[in-house]
Amino acid sequence: MSQSASQSPLHVAIVMDGNGRWAARRGRPGAVVHLAGARAARGVVDAAAREGVGGLTLYAFSADNWRRPDDEVRALMRLFRRYLHGEAARCVANGVRLTVIGRRDRLDPALLHAIAGAESATAGRTRLHLRIALDYSARDALVAAAALPPTALADPRADLAARLGTVLHDAGPVSDVDLLIRTGGERRLSDFLLWESAYAELWFTPTMWPDFDADELRRALADFAARERRFGALPAASTAAPAAHG
Ligand code: IPE
Ligand code: IPE
Ligand code: MG
Repeated sequence: MSQSASQSPLHVAIVMDGNGRWAARRGRPGAVVHLAGARAARGVVDAAAREGVGGLTLYAFSADNWRRPDDEVRALMRLFRRYLHGEAARCVANGVRLTVIGRRDRLDPALLHAIAGAESATAGRTRLHLRIALDYSARDALVAAAALPPTALADPRADLAARLGTVLHDAGPVSDVDLLIRTGGERRLSDFLLWESAYAELWFTPTMWPDFDADELRRALADFAARERRFGALPAASTAAPAAHG
C-alpha cells in the first residue's frame, strides 16, 4: 500500500466470488458474467472512494485459478486487460491510484502492457489506492519474501512487510486489512492476504459478486464501524476505569 493510502482510515479487501453461480442461475454465457463482474467492481470502487476508504484490494485471480479450463482463463485475462485499459482514465478523474499485486511472470505481454499503462497513468492519485490481485497467492508471496535478503528495517515485522511489498510489486510495505469482505456465500480466505489480515474484521455475504453494490458496501462498513477491535487487549471499557486497589 502506498504511503498516502496507509495514512487513510481504512483498508478494505474483497474476495469477489460467486460469478460462476450468478451466471449459471441466469443461464448466461461466460462473457456476460465477466462484464457484470467488471461493472460491479466499477460501482464498488466509486462507492469506496465516496465513503472515504483509503485502500481497496480486490481479489480478481488467484494463483490456483490457473487450474480452471483454458477458455475461462483466457476470457478472464482478456477481461482484465480491457478493464485496465478502460478504467485508467476513470481512475485518474476520480483520484484513484490503481496498482496490481501478485506474480507477473506468468501474465502475457499485452496484459503486462495494460498493467504498466494503468499504473503509470494513475500514479499521482491519492484519494483511494485500488489494488487488483492478479495471479495472487499469499502463501507463495510469503515464501518468496522470506527468501529475499533482509531490508535495513530493525523491526522484523516491518522488514517482512517491506519484502512482501517488493515481491507483490506493491509500491510500499503492505498495510493491514481492516475489513475483509467475501461475496458468494463461502466463508474462507482462499489464500488471500494472509499476513495483512491478521486482525481483519471478516464480513461474509451470500450476494453473488455481480449483484454486490454500493448499498451493500455501506452496510458492511456500518457493521464494521460498530465492532470493537481489541488487538488482544482488554475491551476499552474495562481499561478506561481501572479498579482501585488497596
Ligand atoms: C470468482 O468467481 C472469480 C474468479 C475466481 C476469477 P467464481 O468464478 O469462483 O464464481 P463461483 O464461485 O464459481 O460462483
Ligand atoms: C477466490 O475464489 C479467488 C477469487 C475470487 C479471485 P475461488 O472461487 O477461486 O475460491 P475457492 O476455490 O472457492 O476457494
Ligand atoms: Mg468461486
